[in-house]
Amino acid sequence: MSESLASALDRISAVVITGGSSGIGESLIKAISKIGENLFYCNLSRTKPLGLPADLRWAHIPCDLEEAEQVAAGARSVLAEIAENGGSGQVLLINNSGFGSYGPFPDPDLGHQLAMMEVNMKAVVHLTGLLLPVLKERGGVIMNIASTASFQPTPYLTTYGATKAFLLNWSLALNEDLKGTGVRTLAVCPGPTTSNFFKRAGFAEPPADQHLKQSSEEVAEISLRALAGGRTVVVCGWKNLLMSTAASLLPKRFSAPVAAFFLRRARLDKFLEQ
Ligand SMILES: NC(=O)c1ccc[n+]([C@@H]2O[C@H](COP(=O)([O-])OP(=O)(O)OC[C@H]3O[C@@H](n4cnc5c(N)ncnc54)[C@H](OP(=O)(O)O)[C@@H]3O)[C@@H](O)[C@H]2O)c1
Repeated sequence: MSESLASALDRISAVVITGGSSGIGESLIKAISKIGENLFYCNLSRTKPLGLPADLRWAHIPCDLEEAEQVAAGARSVLAEIAENGGSGQVLLINNSGFGSYGPFPDPDLGHQLAMMEVNMKAVVHLTGLLLPVLKERGGVIMNIASTASFQPTPYLTTYGATKAFLLNWSLALNEDLKGTGVRTLAVCPGPTTSNFFKRAGFAEPPADQHLKQSSEEVAEISLRALAGGRTVVVCGWKNLLMSTAASLLPKRFSAPVAAFFLRRARLDKFLEQ
């Protein structure tokens, strides 16, 4: 990791993360803790992270982000925790929790699609809004874990891709709103990444060739380098960048059938045969 990452993390004394209990979130905590010294972490998720380093200073705040009251209560607990334990440096807020579902809309059911919108979009806006005063007071960064799905319509991941398009656009626009406040945003766009995500989304296997997949540790490292570099958006890996750029250049009415072709070929053939 670069010198500049160490100095970027030097300014931060509190990290607030959603979904640190597995996958990319857990890898981010571990990667930050290897470089940042004496940071305090607040994790919001339904389950308590189990594999974090023993010497970490952290609090787990049980929170189901599908429920607005739990988001509000979680934010109150975060504010109390960082006031007591989070030093006086900048705050890094990582909006990482999220999930998808695979299949023709509304599979598996409409409730699942609506819950996805709550976690992937509404809870991000809600939590960020409630923590913004302390972010502005102390300075900091809001890292939003979007996706390569943000760049085009994603048939068979219809609602998921739309939530991630929302998150990318929201993150970039928010960065402009925050100019001059000492707070900035970073949208991270991973492609297929090894984690619990695909199993939870209903895939038998990740919808990508081995050569496209990244580990959650790689995604965490790329995210932190982008944070240190002052980036507002990063696509993880050059192959994902190439595909996202190509998808962005296509008119939307063409990119939807192209994406449908690849996503169907990748996995839906199996799904339809069942
Ligand atoms: N894996 C990929 O290929 C990929 C690609 C692009 C973007 N992403 C994005 O990366 C982020 C992390 O996903 P991942 O790949 O690390 O998958 P993961 O291992 O399934 O982790 C998802 C995290 O989200 C949390 N979460 C889910 N529902 C929640 C809820 N209702 N309330 C609170 N937390 C909730 C989970 O915590 P609990 O279950 O403990 O609540 C878990 O820690 C997501 O936003 C995902 O969309 C993933």
